[in-house]
Amino acid sequence: MTPNTNQTLGEFIIEHEKAFKYTSGELSRLINSIRLAAKVVNHEVNKAGLVDITGKAGDTNIQGEDQQKLDVYANNRFIETLINREIVCGIASEENDDYITIQGQNKAHDNKYVVLMDPLDGSSNIDVNVSVGTIFSIYRRKSPIGEPVEIDDFLQPGNQQVAAGYIIYGTSTMLVYTTGHGVNGFTLNPAIGTYYLSHPDMKFPDDGNIYSINEGNYVHFPQGVKDYIKYCQEECEEENRPYTSRYIGSLVSDFHRNMIKGGIYMYPNTAKAKNGKLRLLYECNPMAFIAEQAGGEASDGYQRILDINPTELHQRVPFFCGSKKMVEKAEEFMAKAK
Ligand code: AHG
Ligand code: MN
Ligand code: MN
Ligand code: MN
Repeated sequence: MTPNTNQTLGEFIIEHEKAFKYTSGELSRLINSIRLAAKVVNHEVNKAGLVDITGKAGDTNIQGEDQQKLDVYANNRFIETLINREIVCGIASEENDDYITIQGQNKAHDNKYVVLMDPLDGSSNIDVNVSVGTIFSIYRRKSPIGEPVEIDDFLQPGNQQVAAGYIIYGTSTMLVYTTGHGVNGFTLNPAIGTYYLSHPDMKFPDDGNIYSINEGNYVHFPQGVKDYIKYCQEECEEENRPYTSRYIGSLVSDFHRNMIKGGIYMYPNTAKAKNGKLRLLYECNPMAFIAEQAGGEASDGYQRILDINPTELHQRVPFFCGSKKMVEKAEEFMAKAK
């Protein structure tokens, strides 16, 4: 392996700490804890098929989904790592019914931040050796420091996020994150357990030619989405259409590819799922924050994802996210068909 002289994630965090709004070092330590948990989960994901970590765990989560063993494993590792380091005052996860209150040793709830996460995204891909991910979202608490966290600390609109990111366990493992100053991607060198800055200042191409949607649900899509899909498939040489259809079924992986190549990811409401499938707090808000920081856009078809006021922890929303021009075009079709 050629030696990598790029900046490491550790060095990057220290150098950029000064740019953070609050410079107590707490956010840096929190991101450090996440990168550590991600390494542990990565190690386990890589062994899937060798150890007893594939398949269903036997339970369903509050969303009514079958939990996979790796969903449970990743959830436990992230929660344990964050609790042991007493680095956050609360955690909400796709896999937990309710939020977790973390009290420090002196029961003072001294930390500023709450973390919301999708510990393992793309569960259905684990057993077939296809990329999965982890998504995280960080907010500053609203309730007073010293008091236990409250539900309102978690139900903040996405535009209040302090940081957000994802880990993609792919052909290589990457951690991609933003603290509101652009998006940077770090690749893990598994031999030495260090992440290197491999993708500085990531940007969505303004336009693209990839559309990602589960077309198996076509008959249940709203008319605006059907019309937009037709537009994607129509011949138009100047506009590089027909577009290419690519759908992995892991939001993180579909998003990551589209951010690098230019594209749009859509999970609309359907006749069966009136708010779509993806969770606002664990999936849409963090990905929307990253998308916007990379010059892309994220919408529920009509409005900016980051401006939605959440009312429930496990709330779902329709999601259209990717290259700016493509999301705007999809919104145009949605508005026309309304
Ligand atoms: P999760 O594995 O965290 O429950 O998320 C799965 C999500 C998302 O990653 C993916 O894009 C989408 O569900 C796929 O859904 P369909 O199988 O309905 O297309
Ligand atoms: Mn799930
Ligand atoms: Mn998910
Ligand atoms: Mn998940």
